Amino acid sequence: MSNPFREDLVSRSRAEACSVVIFGATGDLTHRKLVPALYNLAVDGELPHGVKIIGFARREKSDDVFRSGLEELNQKVSRTGHDPALWNEYKENVYYHQSEFHDIDGYKRLAERLDAIDESRGGAGNRLFYIASAPEFFDVILENLKAVGLNNSAEGCWARVIVEKPFGTDLATAQHLNSVVNNTFEEKDTYRIDHYLGKETAQNIMVLRFANSIFEPLWNRKYIEQIQITCAENLGMEGGRGGYYDKAGALRDMVQNHLLQLLSLVAMEPPTDLSADGVRDEKVKVIRSLRQLNTPELIKQNVVRAQYTAGHIDANKVPGYREEDRVDPESMTEAYVALRMHVDTWRWSGVPFYLRVGKRLPKKATEISIHFKSPPSVLFNAIPGAASGGNVLVIRIQPDEGISLRVMSKLPGTTLRMEPVKMDFHYATSFGKGSPEAYERLLLDAMAGDATLFARRDEVEEAWRYVDHIERAWHDSDHTPEMAEFVAGSWGPKEADDLLEQDGNSWRRL
Ligand code: BG6
Repeated sequence: MSNPFREDLVSRSRAEACSVVIFGATGDLTHRKLVPALYNLAVDGELPHGVKIIGFARREKSDDVFRSGLEELNQKVSRTGHDPALWNEYKENVYYHQSEFHDIDGYKRLAERLDAIDESRGGAGNRLFYIASAPEFFDVILENLKAVGLNNSAEGCWARVIVEKPFGTDLATAQHLNSVVNNTFEEKDTYRIDHYLGKETAQNIMVLRFANSIFEPLWNRKYIEQIQITCAENLGMEGGRGGYYDKAGALRDMVQNHLLQLLSLVAMEPPTDLSADGVRDEKVKVIRSLRQLNTPELIKQNVVRAQYTAGHIDANKVPGYREEDRVDPESMTEAYVALRMHVDTWRWSGVPFYLRVGKRLPKKATEISIHFKSPPSVLFNAIPGAASGGNVLVIRIQPDEGISLRVMSKLPGTTLRMEPVKMDFHYATSFGKGSPEAYERLLLDAMAGDATLFARRDEVEEAWRYVDHIERAWHDSDHTPEMAEFVAGSWGPKEADDLLEQDGNSWRRL
């Protein structure tokens, strides 16, 4: 029998050798995530032979100084540990290129340097530009790449761009950035990163839903009562992060991108195939179908924003949000947000999606829980414990990646008593190894030309359209709603509990 699947859509393309140019190479992201990700790919034998890394940044530095700074961090954060012998081999492929972002000469020198690297590989080569600088430089970097022709590739090669978040601060700025990006690189060569899409369990959502026959028939309004997505962090504004965060807030920082991406994977229809556009066509339909919260009343009824006051996390005293480093003492920026959302489609009509995200919550945990409707109570309603709700499927994105299903069970013994039990699957124990870091998978995909796990232009813009209504209402002095409060180290404000209570629901305990 012939294989009914199209090989090109099922098997993953191979990552190809290239020069990776990282703009903003002296920043935290490069040191903590990107370079360790490339190192770990090399350790696992996944990095194509011949990949060169060029860090582009403003400070004066030699290759050696740049490399030792990277090594210092790699020792601390590398997933596979730090092997000095392997590092010494790897670092030979890492270079530093000093230039101001607006200095066209710096880009001309970069072009010459890339040509020389290509020569040493034996001819024209592929280029991957990674824009990880502060966002105010995104435009000028793209414009200068174009001005020196680095957006074009030689015959048979490719030039691609990865753009880091934040992708704009509202719909208008995202549309502007999209036009600058697409004026420089074609959409097929543009990779807007959302590192949540590279997380192992986020990738598993589609497999869970569409490679098993038992979930999809139940995955709709008839059987599902509610869906919750929680993204909790115990960190606050350490490491100078307050400067950026206080201008962004939880809604822009996490909901517009990571949480809406997770929501779209949970709520999407089966795609016609696994191509990047096949999947993204379905995801964007979900974001487009979100019921817009476009009046101050709707926002008041469905959104809670909050800041934390001083408290304790793991027995350590932590400051309140307004006392954090680089945060305005009178700040009206939310460090927590909870939303009740609706996806107005045939499948999801009437099912609330509750999202919450915040800093300084008791622990770091991201999960999606699907709460199924309770069975009719005619049989067991007189039995102790029988009223404890329906089945819950939990997709743990991090930490302890895995999936669990809550089912009711009879307690052993001679009487009929019931209690919920958990059927649990943990990645680490089932597969005997940890998952790669999200950035590893995403960098490899960009080198392979696979954009499935990157946000497309329309997805980003639709997500901003949704978030913009709320941001505007929050900044409109006539309608500014209250800023709720919670003690750092607790599970958020009372108002967020009330939001679910109105529907007879409550947040799942993590
Ligand atoms: C980033 C946000 O995108 O994601 C940060 O800007 C947040 O505020 C981080 O801390 C969380 O990522 P992760 O992978 O640690 O959950």
